[in-house]
Amino acid sequence: MTLKVGVIGTGVMGAEHVRLLREETAGATVAAVCDADAARAQSVAGAAAGFTDPLALIADPEVEAVVIATPDATHARLALACIAAGKPVLCEKPLAPTAEEALQVVSAEVEAGRRLVQVGYMRRFDPAYVEMRRSRIAGEIGEAVLLHNTHRNAAAPEWFTGAMAVTNSFVHEIDISRWLLDSEPVSARVLQGPGGDPLVITMETDRGQIVSTEVYMNARYGYHVHAQLVGRDGTIEMAAPTATVTNHSLRHGHSWAENWVPRFRDAYRIQMTAWVRSIRTGQPVGASAWDGYVATGIAEQVVTALQTGDSARLLLGVRPGLYS
Ligand SMILES: NC(=O)c1ccc[n+]([C@@H]2O[C@H](COP(=O)([O-])OP(=O)(O)OC[C@H]3O[C@@H](n4cnc5c(N)ncnc54)[C@H](O)[C@@H]3O)[C@@H](O)[C@H]2O)c1
Repeated sequence: MTLKVGVIGTGVMGAEHVRLLREETAGATVAAVCDADAARAQSVAGAAAGFTDPLALIADPEVEAVVIATPDATHARLALACIAAGKPVLCEKPLAPTAEEALQVVSAEVEAGRRLVQVGYMRRFDPAYVEMRRSRIAGEIGEAVLLHNTHRNAAAPEWFTGAMAVTNSFVHEIDISRWLLDSEPVSARVLQGPGGDPLVITMETDRGQIVSTEVYMNARYGYHVHAQLVGRDGTIEMAAPTATVTNHSLRHGHSWAENWVPRFRDAYRIQMTAWVRSIRTGQPVGASAWDGYVATGIAEQVVTALQTGDSARLLLGVRPGLYS
């Protein structure tokens, strides 16, 4: 059976999700697209129905499952509408810009009594991260004690505000660190570079591990995500993110992606395939609404630490049984 998917938001990420569903995902079809900008929706609609009202797309009986790829501030409201309609949803990260809104989504899902929300923390499907986690669990580097993350963008998008380096970008490292280490961050400290960019954020986990992350929004040379996991018996880290190495103009090396789409193309593709399969099997995969809440909740407390200059003791609610 083919899953009929509606995609809300057809900007950079939404257009890529539409492409993935059409060209690279077995068992799914794009039944509808929606964008507040009607022309943008039409440009990717093809034979799919076009909407400008996301709630109308969610209510459409032709739509069985929904992808949300609108700006951060809209995610929770649209995810809540999907839960109310009983439709599975792949919601782009972050689940919400505030912990309070993210918790509303968790509460609605708990009340519905079943997992309908997957949050688009796609690094969990990236082959390099998957290999690092496998290696740690297999004991190949011994006990993991430290994780170094680097998150550099060529240039911050124009809609970025100061705190979004944490609430929109660093949330990826919060999620992937929890997933890689199978531990929970319990405290955080933040240092700001000149002019507030880059940031260096260190977190300690409930197993005493240290997670260090550089978030550099305007690194200019390219999009560069790197992670190194340090164990008692060795380390494992990402290799250069290209398949080829070039010799040219007296230089030897690989080139950087301009942004996340080419760097994480495989992760987005594998995530989409896994999401569609999970709806068929009823076995949830990827980041849950609870994981989405945790990432946003920690980010919110890191922003306060950034503003006050204090370290943060990270406090979160109790995980409901639905997510155990
Ligand atoms: N998982 C990742 O790696 C990743 C990477 C980039 C962006 N994102 C997330 O994806 C989301 C979209 O980012 P983007 O870069 O594609 O942004 P974008 O600005 O390119 O696209 C957003 C689109 O949503 C439309 N839109 C805005 N409000 C709407 C509404 N109420 N109803 C319908 N359409 C609406 C806009 O017209 C626009 O076309 C963001 O939340 C961002 O954090 C995730």
